[in-house]
Amino acid sequence: MKARIVTLPGDGVGPEVTAAAVAVLHAVAARYGHEFVFDEQLIGGGAIDATGEPLPSASLAACQAADAVLLGAVGGPKWSDPNAPVRPEQGLLALRAALGVYANLRPLQVHPSLANLSPLKNDRLRHVDVLFVRELTGGMYFGARTRSADAATDECRYTVAEIERVVRRAFELARDRRRHVTSVDKANVLETSRLWRSTVQRIAADYPDVKLEHQLVDSMAMLLLTRPNRYDVVVTENLFGDILTDEAAALAGSLGLLPSASLGDRAPSSGPAGHLLPATGEGSSVRPAAASTLMGLYEPIHGSAPDIAGQGVANPVGAILSAALLLRHSLQLEAEAVAIEAAVEQVLRHGPHSRDIGGQAGTAEVLDAVLAAIEDHADNAAAFFC
Ligand code: NAD
Ligand code: IPM
Ligand code: MN
Repeated sequence: MKARIVTLPGDGVGPEVTAAAVAVLHAVAARYGHEFVFDEQLIGGGAIDATGEPLPSASLAACQAADAVLLGAVGGPKWSDPNAPVRPEQGLLALRAALGVYANLRPLQVHPSLANLSPLKNDRLRHVDVLFVRELTGGMYFGARTRSADAATDECRYTVAEIERVVRRAFELARDRRRHVTSVDKANVLETSRLWRSTVQRIAADYPDVKLEHQLVDSMAMLLLTRPNRYDVVVTENLFGDILTDEAAALAGSLGLLPSASLGDRAPSSGPAGHLLPATGEGSSVRPAAASTLMGLYEPIHGSAPDIAGQGVANPVGAILSAALLLRHSLQLEAEAVAIEAAVEQVLRHGPHSRDIGGQAGTAEVLDAVLAAIEDHADNAAAFFC
């Protein structure tokens, strides 16, 4: 398969973890007979410094024409003055909106060998497997805002259509999992949450095979810590999802471990994936050209980690697992995605571990171990089929 991937390394540790994810994608391409063409573009603070804009039009145009987009992180102290006229984060929000990637999937699993890093007792972490579906292009992030010398406002607005599409996505995803959706809101106080809840109730009627429960966000923050293994798919609005998923990352052991996939709707086959060709030749996996493309933006959930940037110690796992999600969701390369996930699992089990998960290894050492494990996995898979 041939695919064009735009990379947006961004700021802080963004370039460090993106480079690791790209190295993994190069290895997968070589091993499985694909051609991935990478196109690096500016976003965030670096883009502000170079062009004055957090999302230059050339970057956006490249993303819109790509098969998938892989992002590191944006932001940092240099651009964080609360009175700054423009911020790096605006570039990321504009990109999410322009790509229409309204469903942000943030899977959480707790690796048994890392359970001792969690602030929770080990027995609470057994069988934790949650898929957060965070609404990503609405709510307070995108409402009208005002600021004067002595007051400020951020409007929180949701339409039924915005709620419906992300909730349907959550129910569909639950059908491939344990068929349990928890919808998180603040319906006891907020009007947007009451609209959210009534929309969820109506849509649930189309999925009688999926169990639905509602949870208020404040108690959900507590339940995530006390009973994390009772959740399957958790769907919620933009701001609540942002906060709950960083909390959830603490259960896994580090913010550096969690990947994400931000997905829009499937475009007609005449879309930008029209040039995707089936791979040919020896050693390549031959598949039909993708019938349609699913626009996707893939990023670890962590930020630019200014406290460790430039030291070569960032954990690349969240970014590498985001590359696996890219292969799965945008390029339909399931076996290749599984190869990356199996390799990461092996490295989490046997090491080397980066500092945030109790080890001494730098980003490069962790990457090398993942690359070696990908080769092992592919060798084993090849031996199995012989
Ligand atoms: P952060 O996620 O950057 O860092 C929080 C803590 O987690 C830090 O101690 C950091 O060292 C650690 N951490 C994060 N990623 C790590 C990794 N890969 N390996 C090891 N440790 C890691 O959050 P913050 O400090 O609140 O935000 C810093 C900047 O990042 C802000 O400007 C914020 O807006 C931005 N941010 C960007 C994104 C994004 O681009 N998607 C996401 C979150 C925050
Ligand atoms: C995230 C980040 C972003 C968000 C910021 C950087 C705009 O925290 O991806 O979780 O709040 O969505
Ligand atoms: Mn966040």
